[in-house]
Amino acid sequence: MKLAITGKGGVGKTTLSALLAQVYADRGRNVLAVDADPSPCLAGALGFPDELRQKLEPISEMDELIYERTGAKPGTIGGFFTLNPRVDDIPERFSVMHRNVRLLEMGAVDIGGSGCICPESAMLKTLFTHLLFRKEDVLILDMYAGVEHLGRATVDFVDAMIVVVEPTRRSLGTAGQIKKLANDIGLTKLWLVGNKVRNEQEALFLENETPGLPLLGTLPADMGVQEADRLGIAVYDHVLALKSVAVEMANKLSLAVEEG
Ligand SMILES: Nc1ncnc2c1ncn2[C@@H]1O[C@H](COP(=O)(O)OP(=O)(O)OP(=O)(O)O)[C@@H](O)[C@H]1O
Ligand SMILES: [Mg+2]
Repeated sequence: MKLAITGKGGVGKTTLSALLAQVYADRGRNVLAVDADPSPCLAGALGFPDELRQKLEPISEMDELIYERTGAKPGTIGGFFTLNPRVDDIPERFSVMHRNVRLLEMGAVDIGGSGCICPESAMLKTLFTHLLFRKEDVLILDMYAGVEHLGRATVDFVDAMIVVVEPTRRSLGTAGQIKKLANDIGLTKLWLVGNKVRNEQEALFLENETPGLPLLGTLPADMGVQEADRLGIAVYDHVLALKSVAVEMANKLSLAVEEG
């Protein structure tokens, strides 16, 4: 099962990615979680211990590796480099594993056609496509790029794209735009997740005003989320209210994607 988590900045993509990753891992599934943020923080949300976090480095910043694989130094423009470098060994070699969740930091990925034609972008695009093609038990992509950058492989191989929103009109407006852009490229397997929901009115608002996306669930606003971050522990362990919603969401997704 391949899940892509999207949404505007700060809505809770990383929090949700971490929760779902740990739910599936605790069910004995093999989970690969991919942090595609230029400033990665999924390791923190998952409560990875410091000694493991120190071993992580975003692929986008591995200049030597990019040079070795593409034949060109990152940052160079023009000149020759391979557009399909070898990447198949990267997920295993550069990820770290904690409590059954394997974590890979990619760094900022411009996976679509736009952006620079440079070695690092060739490397990341190839890696991203490889991850989508790969036979993976559970792949969770904590996305940074908007859907307008998504390519063909995403449409073909992502089983569910989850759009995280806060219970505001503005946030739902953005979700509507994401839906339109996704539909334009043929991606229709979308779900909505409400986050930071403070009360019944906000929950109802999300239910009634969804921009035509099925609501996977709503996560309550909880001070424990920031607290977990401060204490360096996983939200999954620290905030039971969020964990239990995530368990239900995982059930619903499994049912729709794997048994449906
Ligand atoms: N349910 C919640 N209740 C309270 N605070 C939350 C909740 N979910 C997330 N937060 C807080 O909101 C902030 C953003 O969360 P998170 O990092 O998961 O969002 P994001 O969408 O991944 O952000 P970015 O776009 O920067 O990657 C964090 O400070 C987090 O602690
Ligand atoms: Mg994030």
